[in-house]
This record gives sequence, structure tokens and C-alpha cells, in this order.
Amino acid sequence: MCGIFGYVNYYVQRSRSEIVDTVLNGLARLEYRGYDSAGLAIDGDKPDEVLLFKEVGKVAALRKLYASSKINNDRLFDSHVAIAHTRWATHGRPSPINAHPHRSDPNNEFVIVHNGIITNYLALKALLTSKGFVFESDTDTECIAKLCKYVYDLNKDSARPLDFTALAKLVLRELQGSYGLLIKSVHYPDEIIATRKGSPLLIGIKTEQKLKVDFVDVEFPELPDITVANNIPTITTPESAGLSNLTVPHLMTSNLLMPMDGSDLRRSQSRAFISEEGTPMNAEFFLASDPASIIEHTKKVLYLEDDDIAHIYDGELHIHRVRREAGEPAIRSIQTLEMELNEIMKGSFDHFMQKEIFEQPESIINTMRGRIDFEKKTVTLGGLSSYLGTIRRCRRIIMIACGTSYHSCMATRAIFEELTEIPTTVELASDFLDRRSPVFRDDTCIFVSQSGETADSMLALQYCAERGALTVGIVNSVGSSISRQTNCGVHINAGPEIGVASTKAYTSQYVALVMMALLLSDDSISKYERRTSIIDGLSKISSQVEEVLKLNDTIRGIAETDLAQQKSLLLLGRGYQHATALEGALKIKEISYMHSEGVLAGELKHGVLALVDATMPIIFLATHDSLFPKVMSAVEQVIARSGNPIILCNKGESALSKLGKTYRTLEIPQTVDCLQGLLNVIPLQLMSYWLAVKKGYDVDFPRNLAKAVTVE
Ligand code: UD1
Ligand code: BG6
Repeated sequence: MCGIFGYVNYYVQRSRSEIVDTVLNGLARLEYRGYDSAGLAIDGDKPDEVLLFKEVGKVAALRKLYASSKINNDRLFDSHVAIAHTRWATHGRPSPINAHPHRSDPNNEFVIVHNGIITNYLALKALLTSKGFVFESDTDTECIAKLCKYVYDLNKDSARPLDFTALAKLVLRELQGSYGLLIKSVHYPDEIIATRKGSPLLIGIKTEQKLKVDFVDVEFPELPDITVANNIPTITTPESAGLSNLTVPHLMTSNLLMPMDGSDLRRSQSRAFISEEGTPMNAEFFLASDPASIIEHTKKVLYLEDDDIAHIYDGELHIHRVRREAGEPAIRSIQTLEMELNEIMKGSFDHFMQKEIFEQPESIINTMRGRIDFEKKTVTLGGLSSYLGTIRRCRRIIMIACGTSYHSCMATRAIFEELTEIPTTVELASDFLDRRSPVFRDDTCIFVSQSGETADSMLALQYCAERGALTVGIVNSVGSSISRQTNCGVHINAGPEIGVASTKAYTSQYVALVMMALLLSDDSISKYERRTSIIDGLSKISSQVEEVLKLNDTIRGIAETDLAQQKSLLLLGRGYQHATALEGALKIKEISYMHSEGVLAGELKHGVLALVDATMPIIFLATHDSLFPKVMSAVEQVIARSGNPIILCNKGESALSKLGKTYRTLEIPQTVDCLQGLLNVIPLQLMSYWLAVKKGYDVDFPRNLAKAVTVE
């Protein structure tokens, strides 16, 4: 998905090459999110000159483009603002023109980078075109840059100059949709605006001197604010323009002028950034959509809230809001990132995905750390403690997610129902929203997401929250939108996951959900034995994962010699292993581009059997549980049709001997039925990895896919 990186130095002298290196390295840290073009904006050598560099492809291509320019790299800047972006094409194909930063005009008076979607861009574009603006890209974003200039020009001759915050407020209230946004302008040299709505943005802060306080005050307007004073009239655009469902702001000139009595022009001091002498301190700011690109510079970060307008100038960070709602906090705290740089480095591995697969013995432990007492057989989830009563009393549980996270819900649904005795359904976020599924106040809705930013899951969360349901997050990214907007939740603590194909997040989500089910049922005596056996199973699971990882070479061999030439692959499982089959098939599709299908083994005879012959590769998930005999009957049906399946089974499985010799096995240690999927999925992760490597594909950056899909 798109990535934003901005860098501001205030009285910290940096050469142009250092500045460009900082932003390009920042972009490179965001590469894992998936993108198809990149760009940056920096100051030129002439006054009021801003230079843009934009290129299709990787950050390395942008670096090359920059290197080929004849620009003076040694020029020193005491203070400077640079903005940069990686774009994942939505509106308009990948091209230098469509890449960000976008500009207001050929002189680059305003340049912006944007994540998200401006839903009323067609109406804004039509209006700005009628005012003489010439659009050069196919993007929705460009209208923001042009709107900035339009508003600036309207106000530039007024008695009081418009400051950057006031300008941003006037612009933002015309935008509909979602955004993480940085604005740079020749009219406000060495200043930057950063703002967000529904798209993450955080600011890293680096100062030599200690900050005076570890928070930033939120500044609210004192006089009647401009939005209330000039309530924006809206019009509905004509259907003929293809905008039948859009309500667009009516850009009346009066709305875009700063009121003469506006108090927003007053500049205040930001307490955190004042030195002992009472003057602003030298400072650097790193603005990004993802903490992974900030961590190497500083651990002090401030997460912006939706509708915050951050304005950095004179070495100070100010946070503004257009209005104050009752009970709204008046500060944003400056937090310390817990992430370490080595967590986002590949180390000795060839790919992030490989590293993350092999990290699972540890990441699973981290998910359970401090939460399970294996002696006393108890589970504590700090994030849920105040809500346990409400969840236990709820009418039903709805688990909502996308992709791999959805599979972790499927994998644990049965144990949730068994232990909690609360009806539990599992929903794909997009389908749940499409159906406008009924949700009630006494429902508990669990949102499972690695990134915590997936648009479909976020929209479903808002939908459920509006209907009064309790919302619970199972999220990896601390500080993400889902983590912050749910009533409560559990961080899975798997550490940053960089590979687009999710691996360690899946197993940690799985463990977190099982822990939640165990916790919800800890008041039930009848479930005691079952709970105890699951907790004992969890105590051994990490070492069993290590054992499964020893199959790496065998699986590599199977992938390279037997499967890499195939066009298609079927994975069959039932009960707990249906989710494993689906997740294995997804991994294989995602990174090896091979068609693979996860099938419920019980459905084999209802259609899929038609595909089976001696050449069709099939993997059976046939580890031992109550459904094992039924899975074996499916295996027999396949063998009867000359199939040569690969069977994932428990060590020394005797029932296979009657099958003859037309199959191969991968032997997996046995655990409790509801945890077996944690072990069975690992060979499939490895198989997808080795298939992709064998085919020469870019494992960490599969084509057309993004790590976090922040558009619907
Ligand atoms: C918390 C701390 C952890 C510390 C531990 C010690 C954080 C992020 N975690 O972990 O560093 O070691 O206390 O007691 O500070 N939440 C949501 N939605 C979500 C996920 C979480 O609302 O999707 C909320 C939880 O309800 C909770 C908070 O975020 O209020 C932290 O959750 P979590 O990290 O899971 O809590 P602890 O395990 O207690
Ligand atoms: C994307 C990713 O499609 O989003 C998948 O490519 C992921 O790997 C899915 O499973 C859901 O993401 P998240 O962050 O909500 O778990």
C-alpha cells in the first residue's frame, strides 16, 4: 500500500545528499507494504524553488533517477522540509506523472503526498478546472494540491496573511474520503502540514536536548470556529456527471476565505520544544505512515489522531483541531516505540518471509508471554479484563477479518463455540459490509488484523460501533487504527511482520484467539479438563513448531522437484484443518502465483473429485483428530482415482499402511486437536516459500499485492 515519509530538519545542518538519503531510506523501509512507483520533493537552489523526482518501479529506480540529475548534492541546509511517497496505483496506472508528490502548478508552489482516497475528487477537479487549473495526472490526489493553491491565492491579498494551519483547515473541510497527508509549500518555507483521517500517520521526534514534557498540547480555536461560522452548504452533483451518489462541497469563495475575526492566526509556543533558555531547540522530525521507517532515527513518536492537523515550524510541533468535542483529550502523548531496528532487518535470512516463518517458535512465545500461567493453568489478558463480563453475557460473537486474518478466525471458531458456548460466526469484512448484516448492542464483534489498518475491516468496525456492539481488536500493530478504535483488545505481540505473505501473524492471531476463548471460559467447571489440556498443549507448542521447521529441506525438495512445474494444487482438510487448507492455498497463490485451492474434504465428492487424476497434485491434512477416519476416506477416494497425494499426518500414523505406496507423507508432531493447525500450517508456509524461490519470484513483494490494503 502507499507509504508516506517526510523529513524536517530545524537548525540541524544537513547536506542535500544527506536529506535525500534520509527520505529514500525511509521509503525503502516502507517497501514491504507494496507499491509501484515512488517520488520525492526537496528544495532547489533558487529561492522558492521546489524540485520533484518521480519514477516508476522500486525506490532504487528513484535513487538512480535522482543520481542522474546534475543537482548540487553538497549544498547545506540549516533547515529544510522534504516529502516522499511510495504509490500503489488506484486512480491511474503507475507512471511518473501519477506518482506523488503532486503539485499545484508548474512552479510547484504546493506539493503534497497522500495515502487514501478523495471520494469527491471528480467534483473538486471539475470546479478547479473551471477556475483555470490544468490537471496533469489521473489521480484523485492532485486536486488537493491544486485546492491548496486556489485557497492560498484567494486569501493572499487579504489584510491578514493566512498561516499554514489556517490554509490547511480551509482545504481539509472541502475533502471527503480518507487521507494521510503531508503538504509542503514555497509560501511557508521550512514548514510542513501533516494530517490524517482514516489513514495512519505518525511523527518521530529527535532532539539533542531532552523534551520538556512528553506530550504536545492540542490547540483548539478560541473564537467560534470557521467551520461552525461558515457551515458548508452542499449540493448534489448531477447524475449525468456520473456522480449521482456523491455529495460535494460547494466551493463558495466565502467559505475559502479566512474570517477576519479568526483566532487561528495567533502563533503559540509548544511546551515540549522550548529549551531551558526559553528558545526553540534544534530538532529533526520524521513523518511516516509506518513506524518501521522511523525506528532507526528515533524512538520518540507521536501518533496523530483522525482530524489532527500537525503543523511543524520553527522547530516546534503543534497539533490543531478545528473544533473541540466534549471530553476530547487536550494533549497527544509522545510515546516510546518498543520496536527494535533488528526486528525489521532480514539478518542472515534471504527474505523477510523466510525470517518470519523461522521466527515462529519465538513469536508464539511472545504472544503468550506474561499471559498464560502454565503451572496454575490460568490465562490473563490485560486488554480484556474490564470487558470480560460484557463479552460473557453477549448474545453472539462475530469475528470479522480479511485474508489470512480471516483464516485465523476460521481456525479458532470451533474452540470458541465449544469453550464459551456463545454462538460464533466468522465474516469476511467486505461481504459482511456488502450484506449490511444486522448487528445488535448485545453482540461482541472481534476484528482480527495484522496491520490494524485494513480498510474493509476498519469500515466493518465503524459499522458495528455505530450499532452499539462491543468491539474487540486482535491486532499486531500497536497504535494502528483498529487497535485504537476498538473498545478493547489484545495485541498479539508477534513483532513487525514485513513479508507481504502473512506467516507469524497468523500463528500468533491463532494463539491469541485460543487464549481469549480459554479466558472467557475460565469460570466453567465443566470445561476445566479441556482447558487444562489446551494450556498444556500451548506450553509445548513452540518446541513443536521448531520440530516442524526441521522439515524445511524435505519440503524444499518436494517444492522444487514435484510441485514447481505444476499448474494447480489442491489442499484438503476438514474440521480444524479446513482453515489450514485455505490458509496454505492462499500462501501458495500469493507468492508462487500457482493456482491452489483449499477444499473442505467433506465436499470432495460434491464436485472437486472431477479434477482428480494421476497428475493432479493434492495435499491432505490428515493429522489425528475425531474427523481423521472421514479424512482417510477422502484419501482413499483420491487414491482410487489414481491420485498420488502428499499426506500431512502425525508421526508413525499406522492407519496409512493400508493405502499402498502411491502417496508420500510429511510427519508432524501431534498436539491437541484445536492447536494442530498451528503446526500443520508451517509446512505449507515453507512450501509456498520454496515454490516462489524456485520460480524466481520476488518473495517479499509479490506482484499486485500490498501488505496493508487501506482502500476498499
Ligand atoms: C500492556 C502493554 C504492555 C505491557 C503490559 C504490562 C501496550 C501496548 N501493552 O499489555 O507493553 O507489558 O501491559 O501490564 O502498552 N487494545 C484495544 N484494541 C486492540 C488491541 C488492544 O483496544 O486491538 C487495548 C487493550 O484493551 C488494552 C491496550 O490496548 O487497553 C493494550 O493491550 P495489550 O497490549 O494487549 O495489553 P497487555 O497485554 O495488558
Ligand atoms: C492483505 C494482505 O490482503 O490484507 C494479506 O496481503 C492480509 O496478507 C490481508 O492477510 C489482511 O490484512 P490484515 O493486516 O488486516 O491482517
